[in-house]
Amino acid sequence: MAVITCIEDLKRLHRKRAPKMFYDYAESGSYTEQTFRDNTGDFAALRLRQKVAVDMAGRSTASTMIGQPVTMPVALAPVGMTGMQCADGEIKAARAAEAFGVPFTLSTMSICSVEDVAAQTAKPFWFQLYVMKDEEFVDGMIDRAKRSGCSALVLTLDLQILGQRHKDLKNGLSAPPKLTLPVLLDLATKWRWGLGMLGTKRRSFGNIVGHAKGVGDTSSLMSWISEQFDPMLDWAKIARIRDQWGGKLILKGILDADDARLAADFGADAIIVSNHGGRQLDGAVSAIRMLPSIVAAVGDRIEVHMDSGIRSGQDVLKALALGAHATHIGRAFIYGLGAMGEAGVTKALEVIRKELDTSMALCGEKNVQALRRDNLLIPKGFA
Ligand code: FNR
Repeated sequence: MAVITCIEDLKRLHRKRAPKMFYDYAESGSYTEQTFRDNTGDFAALRLRQKVAVDMAGRSTASTMIGQPVTMPVALAPVGMTGMQCADGEIKAARAAEAFGVPFTLSTMSICSVEDVAAQTAKPFWFQLYVMKDEEFVDGMIDRAKRSGCSALVLTLDLQILGQRHKDLKNGLSAPPKLTLPVLLDLATKWRWGLGMLGTKRRSFGNIVGHAKGVGDTSSLMSWISEQFDPMLDWAKIARIRDQWGGKLILKGILDADDARLAADFGADAIIVSNHGGRQLDGAVSAIRMLPSIVAAVGDRIEVHMDSGIRSGQDVLKALALGAHATHIGRAFIYGLGAMGEAGVTKALEVIRKELDTSMALCGEKNVQALRRDNLLIPKGFA
């Protein structure tokens, strides 16, 4: 593909270059994928209001996220197995984000460990924690994130029970992939991926492997991991984690105004309105549709961020106009990484920033702080 002009182009290239097992892992939602589809469909239902004859010189997309300056309010969301989309994927994505001036969030389920990423980046990044049954693992992970200089802990609350994704089961998802005949046939055309993987030793879950003692092959490691999430996570346990961490805390996976009030009462630094990109509760309402009620409930007390379904700068604009302080992108940067490595993540960020800036100008606004409901035409019954 000669010219990349949008996230959709990166997605097509990602599909072509990454093994099917890993592309499908990214491009799937749970069960019927209704929520996964609604996340993008509901963004499309919102329309922007054009304004003309307004001086648009000196625009800026700059903002802050939990007090940290950012060139645009768009962080890279935690994505498990990023290092399987492309060799050393977490390091490449973290570097691209660092150079661009937006936060990178490393998943607990990453291929490169928190130490690997810290060693290859100059600035602090954020660490996303999954709460496992084994407190020793959780405590150890928090300590490792602290020692690695991470500047915020993103605590994910919506995956204590795993939503099933049919494609992963059918593909026999594992990291690294098991070399069955269909996988080998697929890999025969994915030579770029193979070449990259030859150059790295990082091929399994960097934060977890040392911990999963006695677990042999990768498929038993995958099922071992899925049994480790703590189904008893509650506010008391969240408080224990907050106290042990002692730094900036972002609660991810809030989709309900009552839960948002509890998070604000709890004193978190920010919440992320999210349905995990449609990968967990299938049938849940899209995050963009839930955003206004959550902003109305707690927007004056806590930073409200959102993710799930953002594929363009126009989508970022719509989320900000509905009251989000900032946004996070998952698949949009993963497509870039799977397509073109570090340059692809940079491309995804550039595309989104250009779209955000252009659309903001055509809406008659000079900066992201000025965006408000008035910039949108909201269909009846949307929110
Ligand atoms: C995720 N997400 C996620 N979230 C998290 O807290 N920890 C994780 O390890 C992962 N892993 C993960 C893998 C893949 C392949 C995807 C697509 C997503 C959810 C992620 O952080 C974010 O909430 C969504 O990706 C947002 O939706 P979009 O932007 O992908 O539509």
